[in-house]
Amino acid sequence: MKKVQLTETILRDANQSLMATRLPYADYEGILADMDKAGYYSVECWGGATFDSCLRYLNEDPWERLRGLRKNLPNTRLQMLLRGQNLLGYKHYHDDVVEKFIELSIKNGIDVIRIFDALNDFRNIGTALESVKKYANERTIASGCISYTQSPVHTVDKYIEMCKELKTMGFDTICLKDMAGTMSPYEAEHLIKGIKDAIGDMTLILHTHCTTGMAYMTLTKAIESGIDVIDTATSCFSGGTSQPATETMFYALQQYGIESGLNEDIINKVNDYFKPIKQKYIDNGQLNPKSLATDAQALVYKVPGGMLSNMIANLTDMKAMDKFDAALAEIPKVRADMGYPPLVTPLSQMVGNQAVTNVLVGERYKNISKEIKNYIKGEYGNPPAPIAQELVDKVLGDGEPVDCRIEDQKRTGEDFIAAKEALGDLCRCEEDIMSYICYPDQTVKFLEARKAAEENEAVYTIQAMD
Ligand code: CO
Repeated sequence: MKKVQLTETILRDANQSLMATRLPYADYEGILADMDKAGYYSVECWGGATFDSCLRYLNEDPWERLRGLRKNLPNTRLQMLLRGQNLLGYKHYHDDVVEKFIELSIKNGIDVIRIFDALNDFRNIGTALESVKKYANERTIASGCISYTQSPVHTVDKYIEMCKELKTMGFDTICLKDMAGTMSPYEAEHLIKGIKDAIGDMTLILHTHCTTGMAYMTLTKAIESGIDVIDTATSCFSGGTSQPATETMFYALQQYGIESGLNEDIINKVNDYFKPIKQKYIDNGQLNPKSLATDAQALVYKVPGGMLSNMIANLTDMKAMDKFDAALAEIPKVRADMGYPPLVTPLSQMVGNQAVTNVLVGERYKNISKEIKNYIKGEYGNPPAPIAQELVDKVLGDGEPVDCRIEDQKRTGEDFIAAKEALGDLCRCEEDIMSYICYPDQTVKFLEARKAAEENEAVYTIQAMD
């Protein structure tokens, strides 16, 4: 019997897309034992913005959260999202930092590491892959992930080539990541059939979002075209900027006669559990019902929904909303000049800001942002197509482009030494050091609060003994 398995995203992507990753561990600990029996392919629960959110907003140790997940989901694959050489941040870390982060992630309980690079420059995911292989146990899966986008250079053949490269590099599975939800059913069919022909029986995964309203159709075509795993969210946290609903896709697969391995009673129980939690966050304003709606504008303008709302906010601030249409028309032109990067963080912000600047200044590229200059120099990696020559000349002058890997390769241990020094007696374990390297200010704040809480507790214990 044919099989299509499901990855449940409620704990990471649905949480991140609908409510800015503010779901605390305590809210869902009570359902984990049931989720462990649901029969998911995996539960996406860590990485992405969860790490930052734990330290910055939730006063939680992200590593402690991971150990809790591991303890309560002993039979389920725990999955995380990793931005290649950027780990969970926006800058390139040194190779020894990337390796240690992955060693600790696996040690604390992660099974599936989904690794991507915003530009699909696979030099930026090589160290992460090698590290996963080095510390892998029998459950570990290294998943190579492609940032999906549309442009004249992003042809089916180009994606097939990328998949072959990921397979050659040694990844165990491949994921197509459609972060903007703009993959149409037609495109899904051609892509998936082509890729499956090229990579044989290697597991292929599709990750998409309901943002533009196409995701259910796209998943349907993906299933008919041979996809192995799809990402879904429990129904009360599905739709809008999140994933399609787990129970709905389970039902549809049953109708197809395709096995999903899911336990129907349990996936319904999971949704019942999350219903009042959703209501709580709608009531306190952290879950904006707007994010649950369909926004097809992304299909018209070819820019992700988040980018549009950002631009409107910026132009309103500057009292320049009369320039909105011109700025919108400028985005695809800037993106073309930049060699068609996928509009995913941080590229979406960089391209959007440059487009607005071009329009407001009244002359294209009279002012070029520092980030765009670094991008043109090659610091982020190779763009999918060549950058407009006049821009290369303007930014590089007589200089040479840089290799995005040169700085990353250092393995001097200097980052660990500096972190240890900065943390002093706040530091207790390698995980604290790693949190500090990723998010220094938030980690210091968190560790100081942890220390203060423990000191209070100690005093209380002594008093209670009297
Ligand atoms: Co996503």
